[in-house]
Amino acid sequence: MKVAVVGATGLVGQTMLRVLEEKVAPQEPVELYPIATRRSAGKKVNFFGREYVVRDIKEGIPEVDFALFSAGAEASRMYAPAFVARGAVVIDNSSAYRMDPKVPLVVPQVNPKDAFNHSGIVANPNCSTIQMVMFLKPLLDAFGVEEVHVVTFQAVSGAGYKGLFALEAEEEGGFYDNTPFAKRIHRNVIPQIGEFVEGYSKEEWKMINETKKILHADVPVNPTTVRVPVKVGHSEAVHVLLGSAPPIEDVYKVLERFPGLVLLGEDYVTPADVEGRDEVFVGRLRFHPDNPRLLSAWVVADNLRRGAATNAVEIMQLLAGRT
Ligand SMILES: NC(=O)c1ccc[n+]([C@@H]2O[C@H](COP(=O)([O-])OP(=O)(O)OC[C@H]3O[C@@H](n4cnc5c(N)ncnc54)[C@H](OP(=O)(O)O)[C@@H]3O)[C@@H](O)[C@H]2O)c1
Repeated sequence: MKVAVVGATGLVGQTMLRVLEEKVAPQEPVELYPIATRRSAGKKVNFFGREYVVRDIKEGIPEVDFALFSAGAEASRMYAPAFVARGAVVIDNSSAYRMDPKVPLVVPQVNPKDAFNHSGIVANPNCSTIQMVMFLKPLLDAFGVEEVHVVTFQAVSGAGYKGLFALEAEEEGGFYDNTPFAKRIHRNVIPQIGEFVEGYSKEEWKMINETKKILHADVPVNPTTVRVPVKVGHSEAVHVLLGSAPPIEDVYKVLERFPGLVLLGEDYVTPADVEGRDEVFVGRLRFHPDNPRLLSAWVVADNLRRGAATNAVEIMQLLAGRT
């Protein structure tokens, strides 16, 4: 299978190489095309025991089966159609096509059938949305979901290398000029991820809109997204108003059965506990004492794997019939 990774030198691209190495290459040969910009052209990446040279995207578009894009929305808009024209299926991690009605937005455990309804591009949802919909889907199917309130605690790696550099520079007493954050992040929390539009940040709009598209349900999501000085791993305090008031044991049962979830009951994990893992961890599960339909949980996942690279590779495996 010929696979291009566009953005191969980035945080998500590097993680994609590792996930491909673990999940795909042992089963079938992967001919890799690592691609970035002129900045990284000529660099070498290791993949499944071999070195590959990174190419500048401007050198030409290779003919591949799949192109996994994690190079930002501008690059996706500019180059994804050219890969499709050369016969590839593009799986795009950026926000460029997520809300395009002609492009499916897919979490393989949640809406796998949507993936097949593509015209060359399949979009990977936002990292915070992915882990939340994996928790919401089994609840929606079993009990109905009337509304969702969520506060996120998002790692700096969600903003790519620049996010990591900013935290590291500030930890050492310095400042990174290209920081992607509105305020200092070291020893701080920032309740803004992206610009504000009508009171909600862009990240919050992604959670609002993408959730409805993935779940095929008009579920109102009310998010506050917050950047925290954690390197890897997003956490979410999610409060769900269910359509009915099931016993907590029934909630455990449906969550336990859902693929890709790890149910922790009243226990919990932190981002540091789950770095490198592909599952979504659901803990601190409880009903509010005054409302037997108001369920709360603490939902944690590795944003680079579950929230980006693993989801993209799983979409590829689904389309290639290898799951
Ligand atoms: N980080 C996350 O948790 C996360 C989660 C979900 C989705 N995403 C999305 O994934 C994308 C990449 O994120 P990241 O965190 O990996 O960012 P990153 O660490 O900043 O890496 C960006 C990568 O894109 C490449 N690139 C930039 N412009 C390009 C262009 N015009 N043509 C080809 N390659 C280009 C860069 O190459 P050079 O080395 O040449 O600069 C680098 O390899 C973004 O769209 C982001 O929104 C990220």
